[in-house]
Amino acid sequence: MLYLYGKNEHKQILKFNYNLMKNEVLKAIHYRRSVFQASFTDEEVSKEDILSILEAANAAPTHKRTQPWRFVVFRREGLQRLGGELSRIYKTITPAEKYTEATEINMGKKATQSNVAIAIVVNYTGEVPEWEELACTAAAVENMWLAAHSLNIGGYWASPGLINHLGSFLNLEENQKCIGLFYLGHHESESREPIRTPIEEKIRWEE
Ligand SMILES: Cc1cc2nc3c(=O)[nH]c(=O)nc-3n(C[C@H](O)[C@H](O)[C@H](O)COP(=O)(O)O)c2cc1C
Repeated sequence: MLYLYGKNEHKQILKFNYNLMKNEVLKAIHYRRSVFQASFTDEEVSKEDILSILEAANAAPTHKRTQPWRFVVFRREGLQRLGGELSRIYKTITPAEKYTEATEINMGKKATQSNVAIAIVVNYTGEVPEWEELACTAAAVENMWLAAHSLNIGGYWASPGLINHLGSFLNLEENQKCIGLFYLGHHESESREPIRTPIEEKIRWEE
């Protein structure tokens, strides 16, 4: 047999693929993808599914159980309001030489072409370093993304500069910061392998 990798590495890769085939958690992690508005269908994401997705977020780990993630869920008319606000902010903060009407319209469409948009907010408690609150909120988002994927709902984390201007629209407190919008929808996109460089390039073994 010709080994593309060393014999032991080849065994490890086979074992990984075997685990991947039989283990639903590993499958979900491997095949979760960013799914964008172009692939979303009109099918409504039910409130029940949204709550399952947010319960998954709420199961993320936190230091001192500060549970710093907060969410503002936009559906239906709420998406129109969010879209209008994103366009308005873009128009307000973009220097005249960079402004285009097409981008203004497009900013709003990100919301209106989605079935749900969830503003991701970190609630800084001061009980642990800020980076820990940010790290656990990101862990909550990954949980949310995996839960959505498991329900055949696609989505992605969008982090345009505009989110730094959403504070008053979202009624955020002084200690809260919006770190993105998670757009969701039922979709028609094909399952895809992740595009990543090999994990071996990112590990140093000390044995
Ligand atoms: C913190 C964060 C912010 C992101 N912001 C954006 C964004 O503003 N626009 C976008 O198109 N994708 C955004 N993404 C999605 C990434 O582009 C995507 O995760 C990456 O290309 C890998 O693709 P995959 O999610 O399908 O594995 C973001 C992802 C993360 C984790």
